[in-house]
Amino acid sequence: MSQTTPAPSATPYGTLPPASPLPQRRPVSLPRLHQMRAAGEKITMLTAYDATFAAVADAAGVECLLVGDSLGMVCQGLTSTVGVTLETMRYHTESVSRGLRRVQGTAWIIADLPFGSYQESKEQALRSAAVLMQAGAHMIKLEGGGWTAPVVEFLVQRGIPVCAHLGLTPQTVHALGGYRVQGRDEEAAVLLRRHAHELQDAGATMLVLEMVPARLAGELTAELTHCHTIGIGAGKGTAGQVLVMHDMLGINLGKTPKFVHNFMADAGSVRGAIESYVRAVKEGRFPVDELHAW
Ligand code: KIV
Repeated sequence: MSQTTPAPSATPYGTLPPASPLPQRRPVSLPRLHQMRAAGEKITMLTAYDATFAAVADAAGVECLLVGDSLGMVCQGLTSTVGVTLETMRYHTESVSRGLRRVQGTAWIIADLPFGSYQESKEQALRSAAVLMQAGAHMIKLEGGGWTAPVVEFLVQRGIPVCAHLGLTPQTVHALGGYRVQGRDEEAAVLLRRHAHELQDAGATMLVLEMVPARLAGELTAELTHCHTIGIGAGKGTAGQVLVMHDMLGINLGKTPKFVHNFMADAGSVRGAIESYVRAVKEGRFPVDELHAW
């Protein structure tokens, strides 16, 4: 009688493979991100909202996965990020974290504190951050400058790594009057620079700069030696780049922003498109200031 073991049957619904026993790479950590910056290696970041895309992006070599509240628009069909709740952020953070664990992923997970979950008090911010950290985030992100610096300091002192976010801050889109470039005139640039330095002094170790003139973003990157700038529509001079994954895969349902490049157009697979994004950022080929910045 034959002793051959039957091949395992295929798993349904795009199930991820079971975790392999040996991790292929070292997990991304804050010291590792500092080393990359010191070595002049660009940091790559993409948004991820679910287990499978998180695993694919990790395999393609993306160092940081942002569970962005852009999921309100991308996954929930909202018209802005304002309606996203903490419970929704917890659900997606847990999904991304679980997906990475299944494939022994190494990416650094950043989760957005949604609108209304940190504006009230430092204590409210801590409670909300704890929910996302317990769901698997390694770092939380919050928007705005000035009043946020003491909140950042409070969280960092309690062991929560913080990524700040200046420039176009989508949670305050109604106050800003639309999705437009920030820090363009002298007065706005001075304020943005002051906020960025205050956030670094408060302990933020990462700073997303969204739709900020390339020259200003480049200058801030040179000045902020302890806080890694991650640009989106902020030119090639930042320490790293981030895009919304669906945008760079060319499946944006609305108007594609100027700072996006469709990496799927020349790739045969989602993983290939993400690998191409990683290579382009690392080699300084994306973004191109004349095309993707102001
Ligand atoms: O929510 C998000 O995806 C973001 C990025 C656009 C930086 O904040």
